[in-house]
Amino acid sequence: MKKLSINADRLWSSLMELAKVGAYKDERTGLMGVNRLALTAADGEGRRLVKKWFEEAGLQVRVDRIGNVYARRKGGGDKEPVLSGSHIDSVPTGGAFDGALGVLGALEVARTLDEARVTTSRPFEVAFFTEEEGCRFGTDMLGSAVAVGRIPLEKAYAIKDKNGLAVKDELEKIGFLGTHDERLAAPHAYVECHIEQGPILRAANMELGVVTGVQAISWQEVTIQGKSAHAGTTPMGLRKDAGVAAARLCVRMNEMATSGRYGAEMRATMGGFDPYPGLVNIVPGRARVTVDLRNPDDAAMAQAEKDLAAFMKQLEKDMGVTIEARQTARTGRVHFSTDVQAVLARKMKDAGHVFQHIISGAGHDAQEMASLCPTAMIFVPGEYDGISHNPREYSTPEQCARGVGILLDSVVELLG
Ligand code: GLV
Ligand code: MN
Ligand code: MN
Repeated sequence: MKKLSINADRLWSSLMELAKVGAYKDERTGLMGVNRLALTAADGEGRRLVKKWFEEAGLQVRVDRIGNVYARRKGGGDKEPVLSGSHIDSVPTGGAFDGALGVLGALEVARTLDEARVTTSRPFEVAFFTEEEGCRFGTDMLGSAVAVGRIPLEKAYAIKDKNGLAVKDELEKIGFLGTHDERLAAPHAYVECHIEQGPILRAANMELGVVTGVQAISWQEVTIQGKSAHAGTTPMGLRKDAGVAAARLCVRMNEMATSGRYGAEMRATMGGFDPYPGLVNIVPGRARVTVDLRNPDDAAMAQAEKDLAAFMKQLEKDMGVTIEARQTARTGRVHFSTDVQAVLARKMKDAGHVFQHIISGAGHDAQEMASLCPTAMIFVPGEYDGISHNPREYSTPEQCARGVGILLDSVVELLG
């Protein structure tokens, strides 16, 4: 078979077209960002656009009961397909590439196969999964976790956002409460192309990365209940200041992550910090904060969680507050298939690309698929220190095309 090439211009214009959906102007930088928070009207519009592109590419589209969308290119009777995809929901302050590159890259692979009238001995499927980011409903990789059976459908349906709106109702509202079985039959293999979202590849002058796996992720939503009081009249010794308790928790997390006690790669972030009522002259009676812990070592992660829980108990005693911690997401360290990694590495080598193996710092749908079938990922470097979850997120047309070119070569081999 003649060596196929993707259409880099078509890939780029698809990325730029999708980026217009949910586009907003970042006030601070003046840059255009993307806000396609899961199951909002903008996500619905993005989904409809990509679904239309799937249909125009002649793919057979199905929507499952958690709103995951699969698009199949026929091949090889009823053999298991090779699956490739990612997500099109974004964080509210996102860019054009996170997730979109994997979905539109896989679509570009399907378009390329079609244009060349290639017949394959297995079907090829492109997918996008619901609420990968976890920014709205608090649980990341929600759609792919349901697809592989890690999270039961009814449990996922019942999750509510901060305004009390439930996943099932919101899926229905945007027209993506599908009828197909949410449990995905094991594909032959899964490959996802994604931006690295960090500085490592670019700093090392690497053109691409072969992803070896994903580190453990632990998210909690923590509610600290103190006592509201007047800021001017209440002596310091008589306060139960939920804001101060939240701040102490934040500092403790940071100290833990930088202490080296949980390994050099431990990360801890308090990204959400919401004191109530949030007014200048009122001691906060309540604070809601988020905890994001990451660690490539499962045992070190478990120890960090345990130590943080003990710290919260101590904080309750010391400050007279009550603390309720709710785990909203938890995934262990995932190792990707060495066989699929070897295919990716060989294709990169054959194409003359400079690459390295790298563990993912971010969560991905691929880590869920890894429990079903041999899985690995291709990382594309990003500019500006690989900044992501931000309007400055940027990979060049050449970088994107390189990653998707390897996706094509690898998919062709895996399709057999
Ligand atoms: C997903 O983007 C994550 O938070 O890792
Ligand atoms: Mn992503
Ligand atoms: Mn993301």
